Amino acid sequence: MDKVKSNLKDEVHIGNEVFVPLITEEEIQKRVAELGKQISEEYKSKLPIFIGILNGSFIFLSDLIKNVDINCEIDFFKLSSYGDAKISSGNVKMLKELNADINDRHLIIVEDIVDSGLSIKYIEDLLKDFTPASMKVASLLVKPDSHKYKVKIDYIGFEIPSKFVIGYGLDYAQKYRNLRSIYVLSE
Ligand code: IMP
Ligand code: MG
Repeated sequence: MDKVKSNLKDEVHIGNEVFVPLITEEEIQKRVAELGKQISEEYKSKLPIFIGILNGSFIFLSDLIKNVDINCEIDFFKLSSYGDAKISSGNVKMLKELNADINDRHLIIVEDIVDSGLSIKYIEDLLKDFTPASMKVASLLVKPDSHKYKVKIDYIGFEIPSKFVIGYGLDYAQKYRNLRSIYVLSE
């Protein structure tokens, strides 16, 4: 157990920058369980496809569906927008498309975090060419102060300030995704 919990830290130092805990593992697990329960009830008679946006959403998606007690499927898009920087480049690149046939299917897009909203907007526009039965968006985190694009997030884990965060799938230059809690850059 001690080993499993070994990446729980009071602070994470990256170069000169210090990240401090923002949302603990326990708080995340509690909220993800609530979202899983809510989705299970709302999709009771349906067979939803959870569509994760790689890479960031993979841990949230995996914990979320473990809390879903109806049948479901999963698929992934892979997008790249941040590169290795802390600020969005404003460009989105499609690196992996879906494999599932999404026509007439109930889609739940799963994101780690919605910042400007550009990534979700890009996915929504892309899916307009298909005819899904329904489409909703789940995001573990949203930065409400940063929204530049009009997007509706149906299932929100936590609203957070517009500061850079890492952990639980979220990276800084591809690292720190494996942290079990979410840490924020302290100023
Ligand atoms: P958006 O397109 O500006 O909404 O940004 C969405 C994507 O940027 C997310 O899926 C993340 O991959 C990444 N991102 C946004 N904010 C952060 C952050 O604070 N830490 C790490 N990645 C972030
Ligand atoms: Mg992402």
